[in-house]
Amino acid sequence: MNEKLARLPLKYFDSRTHGETLSRVVNDVDNISSTLQQSLTQFITAFVTLIGVIVMMLSISPLMTLIVVVTLPISLIAIRQITMRSQKHFRSMQQSIGELNGHVEEMFTGHAVVKAFGRERQSVGRFREVNDRLYDASWRAQFISGTIMPIMNVVGNLGYVFVAVAGGILVMRKAITIGDVQAFISYSKQFTMPITQTAQIANIIQSTIASAERVFELLDEPEEVAEPAHTAEISRPKGDVRFEHVKFGYKEDAPLIEDMNIDVKSGQTVAIVGPTGAGKTTLINLLMRFYEVNGGRITIDGTDINQMKRGHLRGMFGMVLQDTWLFNGTIRDNIAYGRLGATDEEVVEAAKAAYADHFIRTLPEGYDTVLNEEATNISQGQKQLLTIARAILADPAILILDEATSSVDTRTEIHIQQAMNELMKGRTCFVIAHRLSTIRDADLILVMNKGSVIEQGTHEQLLARGGFYADLYESQFSGRQRLRHSG
Ligand SMILES: Nc1ncnc2c1ncn2[C@@H]1O[C@H](COP(=O)(O)OP(=O)(O)OP(=O)(O)O)[C@@H](O)[C@H]1O
Ligand SMILES: [Mg+2]
Repeated sequence: MNEKLARLPLKYFDSRTHGETLSRVVNDVDNISSTLQQSLTQFITAFVTLIGVIVMMLSISPLMTLIVVVTLPISLIAIRQITMRSQKHFRSMQQSIGELNGHVEEMFTGHAVVKAFGRERQSVGRFREVNDRLYDASWRAQFISGTIMPIMNVVGNLGYVFVAVAGGILVMRKAITIGDVQAFISYSKQFTMPITQTAQIANIIQSTIASAERVFELLDEPEEVAEPAHTAEISRPKGDVRFEHVKFGYKEDAPLIEDMNIDVKSGQTVAIVGPTGAGKTTLINLLMRFYEVNGGRITIDGTDINQMKRGHLRGMFGMVLQDTWLFNGTIRDNIAYGRLGATDEEVVEAAKAAYADHFIRTLPEGYDTVLNEEATNISQGQKQLLTIARAILADPAILILDEATSSVDTRTEIHIQQAMNELMKGRTCFVIAHRLSTIRDADLILVMNKGSVIEQGTHEQLLARGGFYADLYESQFSGRQRLRHSG
């Protein structure tokens, strides 16, 4: 399942809660494995006992054995009828567990927000609602499958009665001795026992089947488009990036990018600006092949990115995303994540370049400070500096900064920019920024709106044009003026 998760496209994770996926990987797999460990041995014991007992019974009286064996299909029919009715409840039980997990996960991640908006009661209410559904499905499932046991007992006892009657007649006819009948009866008890035992664990088996269905559902999800058989490799990427008539939409029926053409030369710094929701991040998602284009092609150094292995393609990029991702571990480990086998000196070098070194040294534990899972023990801007250091360490051919410095103060931002300029000499760099003052020096500015590039050029060219960019720039500039006046 873990391997499968690695191969699933991002689209899969976009469309469901993490808790739901988590529940499948943790609860359902656990359910299956514990059933296999406990119930399977029970099964084997029951089966072997059954065979032994049948042989013994046959040796005493084939006629009476026939009577006992005839009860077997009756039991099977009864079990089948019951499990058919309870299975759907087991299914909705596992589903509710998944939903419940999703809710709890979400509420814990958004803990502060839930508290800030005073939504504790609603959150608990929603939990109750799902939990009630879980309760309902569970007791129905358990109740229905719980009737298997008594029914098996009835059938078993019926068999017992017939054996006693038939045995009595046989003894009267002096066909067998009374001792044989007695022995037979205890064997027939042993015959029904394993079946009753199996019936007893029927509910466990049923919930396991429900779990297995969920596991296979995940395993059957369509994966990322398979890698082509003959993959192209760029051993020394220069960083020429071209978008040729690219078409894309997150959903089939809602195209976002219609016909995008961009030509970026190696070593250029390209700034992408535009209003919120214009499709800037989408552009990067396509470039990194997090999503597949619906039409047209994207090339790097003239090679279609669809012809490359995803791992190879992504290896050429270093990226700092809009939402920072740090894991539970030391600051050193988090930065070193950028490159396998980075030395301590290299980590410190990268941190210096990202202007993170200073704040790290002021922490009591320095580079060995352990970040918690959500990295709430450092500030948002500091998180960004760490992710920038990580990308610098990766030393990629193409660097992508998506609002990478949005949370740091303007002065640090300019410092980082300068350090970047030094670092990115001769490499291609994509910068997405809302603060236009920081991207003035870019070689090419792409102005995006509603999924298409509406203007491109340098800062001066775009200003002279007096179009969308000029407007945007003016509004930021005058906005600051106004602030200064009121301040
Ligand atoms: N995973 C997704 N599934 C469906 N639609 C999406 C998804 N991600 C983004 N969108 C939609 O695509 C459009 C472009 O989003 P995108 O993230 O590229 O904007 P952006 O230019 O990066 O904005 P921002 O400046 O706020 O980061 C938006 O209208 C958004 O609603
Ligand atoms: Mg974005």
